[in-house]
Amino acid sequence: MTTGNTGAGVRRLILSDFRSYPGLDLAVGGRLVALVGENGAGKTNILEALSLFTPGRGLRRADLGDMAREGGPGGFAVSLTLQGEFDDVRLGTGLEPAAPGENPQRRFRLDGEPAGSPAAFADHLRVVWLTPAFDGLFSGPAGDRRRFLDRLVLAVDPEHGARVNALERALRSRNRLLEDERSDPAWLDAVEREAAETGTAVAAARLETAGRLAALIAAARDDASPFPWADMVLEGVLEAELATRPAVDVEDFYRGLLRENRGRDRAAGRTLIGPQASDLVVRHGPKGVPAERASTGEQKALLIGLVLAHAKLVAAMSGLKPLVLLDEIAAHLDPRRRAALFADLAALGSQVWMTGADRAAFLDLPPESEVFEVTPGRVSAILPST
Ligand SMILES: Nc1ncnc2c1ncn2[C@@H]1O[C@H](COP(=O)(O)OP(=O)(O)O)[C@@H](O)[C@H]1O
Ligand SMILES: [Mg+2]
Repeated sequence: MTTGNTGAGVRRLILSDFRSYPGLDLAVGGRLVALVGENGAGKTNILEALSLFTPGRGLRRADLGDMAREGGPGGFAVSLTLQGEFDDVRLGTGLEPAAPGENPQRRFRLDGEPAGSPAAFADHLRVVWLTPAFDGLFSGPAGDRRRFLDRLVLAVDPEHGARVNALERALRSRNRLLEDERSDPAWLDAVEREAAETGTAVAAARLETAGRLAALIAAARDDASPFPWADMVLEGVLEAELATRPAVDVEDFYRGLLRENRGRDRAAGRTLIGPQASDLVVRHGPKGVPAERASTGEQKALLIGLVLAHAKLVAAMSGLKPLVLLDEIAAHLDPRRRAALFADLAALGSQVWMTGADRAAFLDLPPESEVFEVTPGRVSAILPST
């Protein structure tokens, strides 16, 4: 069952001992929310708190232990009230302070009741984000782009994280077994079977989301948009096979490859072929050039276009308009692109949280927006007239 999230989003956010916030109780009314404040004021911390309501790592990919406020009791809690179509829903997560000698425990709560995992939130909330950490995405290592794609998949398919973890575990086991000359061959067979199964599932899930996203982008393609459309291809050995034959056949094919390449992989110290070596190749559509060759500003615009398209895909597939978190967004954009961004965001119908150091960047926000000033440990609403 879903709450039929209308996109109205978070109405209240409570932080306890989360990063720089000893205690924060924030009432939110806006659809577009801007957090303005100096460097280090605590803006990204708020977006990070919101990102904890999705499976996988939060927006900084940080350890939960690092999120507990320094000098605090050792745990933290984040809770939010979501406006649903019929009823409000309360979601909570945090790290319980541990007794001496024990590990702190992650907790999840749905309407006050304990829940087992963040998957319980997926019926109520999806979250997508863009942070400055993605700025070098197109010129950086392929692993960054795979992780970026995995986040996109995770937002439409909350099971994807478990799949990726299972593949990583299987590959680690295989690498260890190859390293040890005395390993039992039957064991290696079993691990390769597992790697082939999970590897094919990971490749198929990535292909499916990348394909849906590409179709959505193609349907809305506008060469004049300030956010250029991206031409995306997921390149990899299994991905190419999946385009031509059923997944069960590809699984057998991959198992064969793993067996044939034991010697080579043993020498390399890792498994060379598989979804762990794929790349999401992106081109700047209107210009027809590889994304890494576009200018810094063009790359940022391309990323924004991708994230906007992804938010639409999430809404179409889950029925939930995702919360969109855009960290340090306005800084890179000229006034024309900024105005276009605000218009596109308003049209999305999602609640959008943006941050920036410069108040002036948010002067042209549409009605129904809300601007907050962030100072260390505090967040206060700025009245539209001030
Ligand atoms: N676990 C923590 N406990 C207390 N303060 C923290 C913790 N983690 C980060 N901070 C503080 O949070 C601030 C950074 O907040 P951030 O949200 O990144 O700022 P910005 O407004 O620039 O986005 C820094 O001053 C940092 O010292
Ligand atoms: Mg920041």
